[in-house]
Amino acid sequence: MLTPPPLSLYVHLPWCVRKCPYCDFNSHQGKGALPFEDYIDALIRDLDLDLPLVWGRTVHSVFFGGGTPSLFPPEAIDRFLQAASSRLRFAPSCEITLETNPGTAEHGRFDRYRAAGVNRISFGIQSFDDQSLKKLGRIHDSQEAERAVKLAQDAGYDNFNLDLMYALPGQTLAMAERDLERAFALQPAHISHYQLTLEPNTIFFARPPQGIPDDDHAWDMQEHCQALLADAGFGHYEVSAYARPGRQCAHNLNYWRFGDYLGIGAGAHGKITLGAEQAILRRWKVKHPTAYLDRAGTTASHGGDERVAPERRPFEYMLNLLRLHEGFSLSAFEAATGLPRAAIAQPLQTALASGWLETAGERVLPTALGRRFTNDVVELFLQP
Ligand SMILES: C[S@@+](CC[C@H](N)C(=O)[O-])C[C@H]1O[C@@H](n2cnc3c(N)ncnc32)[C@H](O)[C@@H]1O
Ligand code: SF4
Repeated sequence: MLTPPPLSLYVHLPWCVRKCPYCDFNSHQGKGALPFEDYIDALIRDLDLDLPLVWGRTVHSVFFGGGTPSLFPPEAIDRFLQAASSRLRFAPSCEITLETNPGTAEHGRFDRYRAAGVNRISFGIQSFDDQSLKKLGRIHDSQEAERAVKLAQDAGYDNFNLDLMYALPGQTLAMAERDLERAFALQPAHISHYQLTLEPNTIFFARPPQGIPDDDHAWDMQEHCQALLADAGFGHYEVSAYARPGRQCAHNLNYWRFGDYLGIGAGAHGKITLGAEQAILRRWKVKHPTAYLDRAGTTASHGGDERVAPERRPFEYMLNLLRLHEGFSLSAFEAATGLPRAAIAQPLQTALASGWLETAGERVLPTALGRRFTNDVVELFLQP
C-alpha cells in the first residue's frame, strides 16, 4: 500500500539582481521594477489549483527558493504565508526557510521576515575570498556577507545555513579551508558545501574559467573540508549537507526521504502521493516567469503531469535515499513506493555483495565506498 508521507511546500521566486555565470537554476536577471504583488497573486492562484491534491494534509516545511527570494519585500512573503496557512494546515513546528543573497540584505528586513513567519534563513555565501567572489560574478563581497549574517542574528535568527562552494577557479586547499574557518566564526546551524560544477547552458560551461582544480585536487579539498567540518561539530548527513545536532534541514530531508511536496511558482516541481488512486504524481509548472504570471491558476500553467510507474519507483526512491547517511528501512521503502521489499531483493543483494550497502536490522545504509559511487549504486535499481 502506498501511504502518503509527510508533506512540504516549495515556492519558487525566480528573479535575481544579476545572473551568476555558473548557475543553471530557473533564475532571471530582473529588469526594472519587478511585479512582486502580481507574482504573489499568481502563487496564490497556483496553490488554489493544487489544493485538491492535498486536502486535509499537514504541511511540515515551507521553502522559498530561487532565484533570490530575499528580493521580495517581507510584506509580500507575509501575504503569501497568510494565504497559504489559511488554506493548508501548518504543523506547529513548521520550518519556514527563505534563501537570501547577502547582496540584498537591508537593515530591518530580517525582523520583518521573522514577523511574517520565516524561521530559517539560507545565505548564498559561496566564498569569503573577494577575488573568488569576483570570478563567480557575485554581487557582494565578503564584508557584506558577514554583515548580512550579523543583521539576521540581530533579528534573532540562530537557525541559518551558509551555502559555500569549493573547487573554485584559482582556489587552493588552504583557501577552501579558510572559507570554512570564516563560516564557523559566524556560528551557523548548517553548512551546505557544494563542489562547483560546470552546468550545461551556463557561461562557465561555454567558457570554463582558468584554474578550476582537477578531480584529484577537488577530492583532496572535499576530504580535508569534511574533516574540518566534523571537528567543528557539523554532522555530515547528506552528500553536501552538514548540520549541528538537531539542525538538519527538515525541508531537504523530506525530499531525500522521498516525502511529498507541492511545487508552487515558475518552473517548480511537485511530487504527491495520491492514496485513493495508489499513484505518485509529479507535476511541474511552466518555467518562464512571464508565461507563469499569465497562466497561473489554470491548467495551462502546468508544464506537465506524470504518474511514476511502479517499475520506476525503486530507482527514484534510491536516487534520493542513498544520498543520506542514515539510509532507509525496508518498511519505509514499502510505504513510500507501494511495492513489496521483494521488488528490490536482487539489486540489493548485488549492492551488499559489492560492499556498497550494508544492513543493520531492517535498515539499509550506504557504506563509505557506496557513498563514493552513489550513481553506480542507484543505477542497479533501474529496471529495463
Ligand atoms: C538557488 S541558489 C541560493 C541562493 C541565492 N540565489 C544566492 O545565490 O545567493 C542555491 C545554491 O546552489 C549552489 N549552486 C548554484 N549553482 C551551482 C553550481 N554550478 N555548482 C555548485 N553549486 C551551485 C550555490 O551555493 C547556491 O547558493
Ligand atoms: S543569485 Fe543564486 S539563483 Fe541567482 S543566479 Fe546567482 S546562484 Fe543563481
